[in-house]
Amino acid sequence: MAIPTAELHVHLEGTLEPELIYQLAERNRVELPWAGIEDLRTRYDFTGLQHFLDLYYANMAVLRTEEDFADLTRAYLARAVRAGVRHTELFLDLQAHTGRGVPAEVVLRGVDDALGASEAEYGVSSGLIITLLRHLPGEAATEALREALEVDVRLLGVGLCSAETGSARPFREAFELAAAHGLHRVAHAGEEGPAANVTEVLDVLGAERVDHGIRALEDDAVVERLAAGRVPLTMCPLSNVRLQVVGSLDAYPLRELTDRGVLVTLNSDDPAYFGGYVDDVYRETAAALGLGTQELAALARNSMEASFVSEVRRAELVAEVDAWEAGLREA
Ligand code: HPA
Ligand code: ZN
Repeated sequence: MAIPTAELHVHLEGTLEPELIYQLAERNRVELPWAGIEDLRTRYDFTGLQHFLDLYYANMAVLRTEEDFADLTRAYLARAVRAGVRHTELFLDLQAHTGRGVPAEVVLRGVDDALGASEAEYGVSSGLIITLLRHLPGEAATEALREALEVDVRLLGVGLCSAETGSARPFREAFELAAAHGLHRVAHAGEEGPAANVTEVLDVLGAERVDHGIRALEDDAVVERLAAGRVPLTMCPLSNVRLQVVGSLDAYPLRELTDRGVLVTLNSDDPAYFGGYVDDVYRETAAALGLGTQELAALARNSMEASFVSEVRRAELVAEVDAWEAGLREA
């Protein structure tokens, strides 16, 4: 049985599998530039973040209707359930869709409907985090968040992703707006960018969690700050290897961070692109680093501690990890 987890760093659009890309292209009569699914798959060999992002945004062209967004969300949830996901805080790159002329309402309603149904069908709790795009101007981010806030759907938080270039300062206004509406705040930083970017999103955006944050290791003071403040890192080892942020999974600095008191969680990022869902991430990372049952259970409990659920839900989730661990001891 897969270890029960809370998934805290997964981009909905990063779960768009090649098969679904082709199904949606046919349904929406979108011309794709590839010779077929296999040809598309040959392009998943990335030299870095921007190389990946170019294909990731291009593939989104097939997502057009409320039904498309609901189908994508349902497909992710069905796979996530098999991966042991019991709670998910899902990133949505809203601007990547509104920028192509798909109204925010279409996107948000499709995703929200499917998330609501999953609670009843699978018992998976969920929240939606609108990830603002760092390669676009700060004003565009604020505008996108305003549009999202006008739609009658549940929002959990706001995030920041895409190319890690330039300052995060232009996004301060959007993050302040989010806070004023009671939304949680997270941000990608220290993936391709330096440790100073981690400090910046904490100080300027009030980030409660840092997505990736692996390059914090280049500055002891930043690591100490993360540890002292119990600021979680949502780490994505398969992503970091595929985007050449780290050389190999064997060299992944997970224990270095946990030994120094940082609250680390394991996540998939863009599972359709990086070779695995969160169960694969746990299994492959465990195999590469020799993590045992206790260490895996501790990582799963970290995901619950780092999540934005209520205390009651948190206790339920942690009890599921306890039961998983006890079951393995008996076996
Ligand atoms: N980094 C930044 N932006 C992203 C990523 C990532 O790994 N995946 C999807 N958008
Ligand atoms: Zn990410």
